[in-house]
Amino acid sequence: MTAVNSSQVVNIEDLRRLAQQRLPRCVFDYLDGGAEAELTLAENCRAFREVTFRPRSAVAVGDCDLKARVLGHELSFPAMLAPVGYSRLMHPGGEVSAAQAAGEAGTGYILSTISGHKLENVKAASRGPVWYQLYLMGGREAAEGALDRARRAGFSALVITVDTPVAGLRERDSRNGMKELLGSSLLAKFPYFPDFLAHPGWLASFLLDGGMPKLENVVIPGKGPMELVDVSAALAQAAVTWEDLRWIRQLWSGPIVIKGLLIGDDARRAVDEGAAAVVVSNHGGRQLDSVSATLRALPEVVAAVGGRIEVLMDGGIRRGSDVVKAICLGARAVLIGRAYAYGLAAAGHAGVTRALQIFKSDVERTLRLLGCPSVKSLDSSYVETPRTWDAR
Ligand SMILES: Cc1cc2nc3c(=O)[nH]c(=O)nc-3n(C[C@H](O)[C@H](O)[C@H](O)COP(=O)(O)O)c2cc1C
Repeated sequence: MTAVNSSQVVNIEDLRRLAQQRLPRCVFDYLDGGAEAELTLAENCRAFREVTFRPRSAVAVGDCDLKARVLGHELSFPAMLAPVGYSRLMHPGGEVSAAQAAGEAGTGYILSTISGHKLENVKAASRGPVWYQLYLMGGREAAEGALDRARRAGFSALVITVDTPVAGLRERDSRNGMKELLGSSLLAKFPYFPDFLAHPGWLASFLLDGGMPKLENVVIPGKGPMELVDVSAALAQAAVTWEDLRWIRQLWSGPIVIKGLLIGDDARRAVDEGAAAVVVSNHGGRQLDSVSATLRALPEVVAAVGGRIEVLMDGGIRRGSDVVKAICLGARAVLIGRAYAYGLAAAGHAGVTRALQIFKSDVERTLRLLGCPSVKSLDSSYVETPRTWDAR
């Protein structure tokens, strides 16, 4: 298999191809796929193509300043790693490797509740900011335990994902055996054995890592860490409402970030409820299909928030030029999901590092080509959006 640092790996699509080679089909499609007809998944990426740049030519730009400030943290460039569940299935290093690579690159990592490594180990692996993403799975006591551990471990913000009242229908997962892989029946896994055996590198590392990881950060009182197999059912009972926020606020005194908003009214509500930031997100097209691309939803949310809190966005970001476009349209920074997870799946820590290098050098080159000296100077004058995108 091609090494992630080879000259053959120049963009995120190259890392995606390597991930596809290393992973069995069910794990790759879990990572790569979206909900239902995958309309929003495709739209998230397509929206970036509709926005074009308006460069300032013949401008000498010295050293570009790529830094961005997010909730008081100075990031080396304006992209953090989004929470990605089941990362340990993709590579044994999972969340620990991703957090470590993010810290080394001078940026932050958001740990999903659906994680196979203990949150304390994830925090210890990174020298950058690490935030905890909360799902209310396993009940309130499990959430209280996780928040207490996260606070003591030094997580600096809490991210509450609000777009998962139930899990979206990821049709590829149903067809390719993801449910069977996560389940406890060996017999049900049997039809998928040829696929696992055809990916010996992944299979060996999965078995050496002890097989299916438990959810180390969802500890059910009296029972211990939750089994992965329970996740879909647990998510269906874990919907977060605005009322829950008040209860969570009593447990978490640090900044709270609301992830999964697409409309201005919800963003205003988040401000009123005391959020420190919102993430314009449709869960990477994995939840409600046919919602609009996040880049398209971003200006409405930015206008609604009116600078009172920070606005982040994610969805469809595969190149540094995508990061720059999102900043031009008002995001303080972006989260990247699949783009780094492809790197993780391809080669663990080295793969995430490569993904971040690609993004960072893309962002710098794009700024230079735009004739813009810093991320902080980017604004809407550097881009052209289609007329049909007018903000509400
Ligand atoms: C495999 C996978 C697992 C995810 N798991 C979670 C999760 O556990 N919690 C969460 O809030 N978002 C989760 N997300 C959504 C991401 O945080 C992010 O919103 C999305 O990936 C952004 O879109 P992108 O993949 O196009 O960058 C997941 C996304 C993927 C691809």
